[in-house]
Amino acid sequence: MALFQWTNDLSVNVKEIDAQHKKLVDLINLLHDSMKAGKGKDVMGKVLNDLVDYTVYHFGTEEKLFEKHGYPESQQHKKQHDDLTKQVKEVKSKFEAGQTTISVDVLNFLKDWLNNHIKMTDKRYSGFMNSKGVN
Ligand code: FEO
Repeated sequence: MALFQWTNDLSVNVKEIDAQHKKLVDLINLLHDSMKAGKGKDVMGKVLNDLVDYTVYHFGTEEKLFEKHGYPESQQHKKQHDDLTKQVKEVKSKFEAGQTTISVDVLNFLKDWLNNHIKMTDKRYSGFMNSKGVN
C-alpha cells in the first residue's frame, strides 16, 4: 500500500494546484517504494532530486498566483515554503554526502508536512483564488 493516499479532502479547488499536489504525493510514494525495494544510491538520489526540484517548482507556482492576485496571506505562506525548501535541500545535501539515508522517518516527515500544509495552509487560499476566477 502506498505511504500517502490522495483523498478529495486534499483538494484546494484549483485544478493546476491539485495536479501538482498529486504529483508531489506520487514522488513521495515513489521514494518510499524505492527505499522499500532497497534501490541503490543512484536511484534514490534521482528520485530525491526530482522531489526537491518539483517542490521548488510547485511553491513557485503558488507564489506567482499570490503575487498576481494580491493574496493577503502570502508572506506567512511563503515562510512555510522557504522553511521546507531549506529542510529538504539539507536532506538532499546530507544524502549526497553519504551522511544520511532516506529513512521511514524522513518519508513520514515529508508526508505529514505536505498533508498538514495542504489542509491547514493551502486550503486557506481556495475561496480567495476561486473569487478571482482561479479554479
Ligand atoms: Fe501547495 Fe503551499 O504548497
